[in-house]
Amino acid sequence: MFSCYGRSEQKYRPMGCGMSSEVPEGEPRTVVVFGATGLLGGAVARALLEDPLHFRVRAVTRRPSSERARKLAEEGAVIVTANQNDIASLEKAMEGADAMFLTTHYWEDKNKEKEIVRGLNAIDAAVHKGLTHIVFNGSENVKRAIGKDCGHLDSKAAIEGYLREVGVNFTIIRLPFWYENFYTVFRPHQVKYGVYAIPLPMEGKPLDMISVDDVGGCVMHILARPKFYSRQELNLAADRLSVDQIARVFSKNFFNKKFITPNIRVKDYEKFDFPGAQELAAMFAFYQSDLAIRDIKLTKKLNSNLKTFDKWLDLEAEKVENAIKEGTKEIESTKKT
Ligand SMILES: NC(=O)c1ccc[n+]([C@@H]2O[C@H](COP(=O)([O-])OP(=O)(O)OC[C@H]3O[C@@H](n4cnc5c(N)ncnc54)[C@H](OP(=O)(O)O)[C@@H]3O)[C@@H](O)[C@H]2O)c1
Repeated sequence: MFSCYGRSEQKYRPMGCGMSSEVPEGEPRTVVVFGATGLLGGAVARALLEDPLHFRVRAVTRRPSSERARKLAEEGAVIVTANQNDIASLEKAMEGADAMFLTTHYWEDKNKEKEIVRGLNAIDAAVHKGLTHIVFNGSENVKRAIGKDCGHLDSKAAIEGYLREVGVNFTIIRLPFWYENFYTVFRPHQVKYGVYAIPLPMEGKPLDMISVDDVGGCVMHILARPKFYSRQELNLAADRLSVDQIARVFSKNFFNKKFITPNIRVKDYEKFDFPGAQELAAMFAFYQSDLAIRDIKLTKKLNSNLKTFDKWLDLEAEKVENAIKEGTKEIESTKKT
């Protein structure tokens, strides 16, 4: 019996049974990709779609008529409608597939237990439908590591635990801070005209980072070698920089702006009152620890086209600039109201 979360025993294929370490050319594996309309799953889907001799993509979404789903279909993915809360829809999505890239989501309802259930549902459906390899976007258990609750990472650690128990062949990837956060949640914000703050509470410690796009290439490499990466946890990163070094890279790429790094500590961050501040503080406390040091050398082996932060920022300058401008407008309109 599987002990995790009271789920009962189900039929599954023994790990690694009859699988070769290479996917034969011309016999593409069908990969079910979760989060394909989002950043991470989208990067995985795009990487796999570039190699149709080895992979077919089944992109999972709850909203098949969304613009992102339509774009994926144009790019060659088969769009399947499923919801991680609904096992029947998951089983239908996995019928006849070979492998799955699983990412789960926390921020919509900010509920750790619900995210765990969604992850377990997807794993159960994959096991039931006989998928032979699951690549999961997992995490260390932050609560256990440093004693601080971190819903969005502790949930992924619990799902990892279940994945290990069910006996299916799996590979876990553990990611660092994404470069893309600099045009989303952690975009530099204007503190006065021409001066922008990067307030990451790393307290002088370096931050491991990667572009989510490059994660796509890593996952493709892993999915092509299910036997070789069987039951492994791979800690991925492309660059390791202090917040001051990050600010210097920003200054180099945006010479008309000044970037500063306010000395914010985790204990200051914990006191912020925006939703999720406490767990982001816990995440940064974890990032400060040695446990969050990722393996850049290994990651380069998985994807030889890894971008340094400097290279990424050079390529994505327009997107980042627009996000900074958007943030500035928001700050100014809040001041007016
Ligand atoms: N390491 C980092 O710096 C970092 C940064 C950001 C995020 N993350 C983590 O990476 C993961 C992916 O984040 P993301 O930014 O790529 O996500 P995102 O862009 O916000 O997209 C969310 C995706 O999840 C899908 N989804 C949500 N709930 C679902 C459900 N119940 N059933 C099926 N699909 C569902 C959505 O599909 P539809 O809406 O099309 O159904 C969408 O594709 C998350 O776990 C997040 O915590 C890590």
